[in-house]
Amino acid sequence: MTTYQAIVTKVRGRVAWITLNRPEVLNALNHVVRDEVVAAAQAFDADTGIGAIVLTGSERAFAAGADIGEISDITGTEVLVSRVFDGWEAFAALRTPVIAAVSGYALGGGCELAMMCDVIIAADTAQFGQPEITLGIIPGMGGAQRLVRTIGYYKAADLVLTGRMMDAAAAERAGLVSRVVPAAELLSAASEIAAEIAARSLPAVYAAKAALDTALETSLAEGLRFERHAFAALFDTADRKEGMAAFRAKRAPEFQNR
Ligand code: COA
Repeated sequence: MTTYQAIVTKVRGRVAWITLNRPEVLNALNHVVRDEVVAAAQAFDADTGIGAIVLTGSERAFAAGADIGEISDITGTEVLVSRVFDGWEAFAALRTPVIAAVSGYALGGGCELAMMCDVIIAADTAQFGQPEITLGIIPGMGGAQRLVRTIGYYKAADLVLTGRMMDAAAAERAGLVSRVVPAAELLSAASEIAAEIAARSLPAVYAAKAALDTALETSLAEGLRFERHAFAALFDTADRKEGMAAFRAKRAPEFQNR
């Protein structure tokens, strides 16, 4: 297993875990975290022995945003040419589902990183927000775009324009999180959900994630075309035949992930 500076990784069965590990700055996202998260996630994504990834932080913070120390003295040109945030798009483009297990602060880039995941499980202590406006900037990792598409314009504008935080219960009502659980149960809940996804047929899971992403990114007509083709393609997988045979024989399927 590779050793990293700013994250910790582990594999349990078919589930890979990535834990952000910069407690002294509430897991603020600097270029080291970004490069390590993207590298670790891409390595897991390339491994068909992995069916789901869990991304988590600490009890106090999932991530408190971009590392303000790192970006305090850079120019606009440097932001553009160093592609300071662009690397994260590779994380959003993974084919493997990612479950964000959020406890404490998910602010700025932390909230944006959670929104690059497919399922967001929040501890009842979680706080979401896009406080960039309080610093004289705006979200730069897709926050305004993904918030509008997921929770709607008016709730998104409330967060992005005021910089206020939204607690876990409000985030669940708004549709920003999938489920809220007591803080003590966060990691076991994330582990259960990840294991459930990882036990499914991998080609179907990849297709499901791609279809969901397509819905966020394209028109309905394009999305329907994509979904119909992806649906048809799955009929030729061994796992589809096994899944339906197992249902008819009233037994659990044994997927081969092909
Ligand atoms: N970048 C760099 N350092 C950060 C950070 C960030 N985004 N967020 C927190 N830290 C550091 C603090 O500077 C502090 O370091 P210090 O102990 O050396 O002073 C440490 O993490 C703990 O944070 P602190 O502010 O003392 O904790 P708190 O419980 O009082 O407040 C927050 C927590 C999250 C509300 C507050 O830290 C905060 O507002 N952070 C910035 C959030 C933000 O604007 N993110 C968007 C960035 S674009």
